[in-house]
Amino acid sequence: AAVRIPFQRSVQSRERTTIVAAKAWGGRFEGQTDERVEKFTESISFDARLADVDVAGSQAHARMLAKVGMISESERDQIVAELDNIRGEIERGEMPFNTSLEDIHMHIESRLTERLGDTGRKLHTGRSRNDQVSTDLKLYTRAAIEHVDELLLETQKAFVEKAVADQKIVLPAFTHLQRAMPVLASHYWLAYCEKFERDRQRLADCRKRVNVSPLGSAALAGTSIPIDRQETARLLGFDEVARNSLDVSSDRDFLCEFVFDLSLISAHLSTWAEEWIIWFSTEFGFLKLPDAFTTGSSIMPQKKNPDVLELIRGKTARVMADVTQLLILIKGLPMAYNRDLQEDKLAMFDAYDTVVACLELVPAMVLGAELQVDRINSKIDDGFLDATALMEYLIKRGVPMRTGHETVGKLVGECDGRGIRLGDLTLAELKSVCDLIDDDVYSVLGTVNANAVLQSYGSGGRAAVEEQIAYWTARLDASEQ
Ligand code: ARG
Repeated sequence: AAVRIPFQRSVQSRERTTIVAAKAWGGRFEGQTDERVEKFTESISFDARLADVDVAGSQAHARMLAKVGMISESERDQIVAELDNIRGEIERGEMPFNTSLEDIHMHIESRLTERLGDTGRKLHTGRSRNDQVSTDLKLYTRAAIEHVDELLLETQKAFVEKAVADQKIVLPAFTHLQRAMPVLASHYWLAYCEKFERDRQRLADCRKRVNVSPLGSAALAGTSIPIDRQETARLLGFDEVARNSLDVSSDRDFLCEFVFDLSLISAHLSTWAEEWIIWFSTEFGFLKLPDAFTTGSSIMPQKKNPDVLELIRGKTARVMADVTQLLILIKGLPMAYNRDLQEDKLAMFDAYDTVVACLELVPAMVLGAELQVDRINSKIDDGFLDATALMEYLIKRGVPMRTGHETVGKLVGECDGRGIRLGDLTLAELKSVCDLIDDDVYSVLGTVNANAVLQSYGSGGRAAVEEQIAYWTARLDASEQ
């Protein structure tokens, strides 16, 4: 619902002769632009997807121009109506794009002028393409943030659904990919919810900087035309008007921020994908993935491969490259607009499209995946997941932590050598290393018991996890309203 994505079409340079005279900046030029230069400098091949926001920005600008008396009400109405027509044409793919008109802004303005003559020629009063591009990008980014946020919410819902369903399953949790301590599976699912929550918060914060209007900063210094910047900001739903025209016309911080936020979303998705690739292996066998989300091998008939997960992990590299590209792009630019900035869109669109493509798959994959409980349970008591619980048992009986750590370490070493578990040790054997141990020790030994004794806030034990589930269920229900 949020963003109307592109009417992206390839550039049709054949048609250049028909519109070549319409160059908006042609006044001081005698010779024509070299065709190779047009091809090199064009951005229409990738900025056509700004058409929708460009029209919205121009309509607001025209309304403001009428309000301050720079154009008449009838001129305003003609411009607004014709811009609607043009948007329709572009959406339907009826507008030919041409590199001689460089970008989407010039295409729309030249079509307007073609239709309305002098009235069309007034639209760009008190405006430059520099503030126009920046306005378009901000409107686009604002909608993109909303779109990504919706997808993250859907993702969170899927994880919460799994958390609710898997409350009885105990999982080994890993550090260094080594068995560490037992948690409820719900705790695992909700850990991802938290990561996506921070991603959503970062986007909401980024939006504050995005939603400041550059429109009216004109080329870089503002204008002598009595424009009303508050009015265009209001019409376009911006919360504020940028205070400094020089700053805002060179500002792409908001794109760096947005694409950084996307990078971190990608990083979260990538770590999740990596983990599931491991869990899906025969060696782990923790997970069953739906057939619809796995692929086969062209030579090995037995194979079921987690290609989708691998590509989610792989595409993360692109998004991270995009944020790097943006940072490098801006680092050498003197104030204010420099043509380098035209390249900003490529990085942002790529990062946005990539993250959207990934997020569109995640909820269905999460909901379709099944923890392989029999397999998980068959090895749940391997790896001394109860060692920390035993150490804490000793601490609660007055043993200093470091001493308890050493004692249990020795016991683990001994059990490991004998191929048994801590719970297999007799009380006499346990007492021989520490006579504070009683037979209630067996209520903390064993992985399930070691999970049950976890009680701190935010832990992977029953009470804390139920609290988290209640929190997330209420939160996501509230977001439905
Ligand atoms: N196509 C350009 C861009 O996307 C438009 C801005 C051009 N401004 C200029 N002063 N040449 O950045």
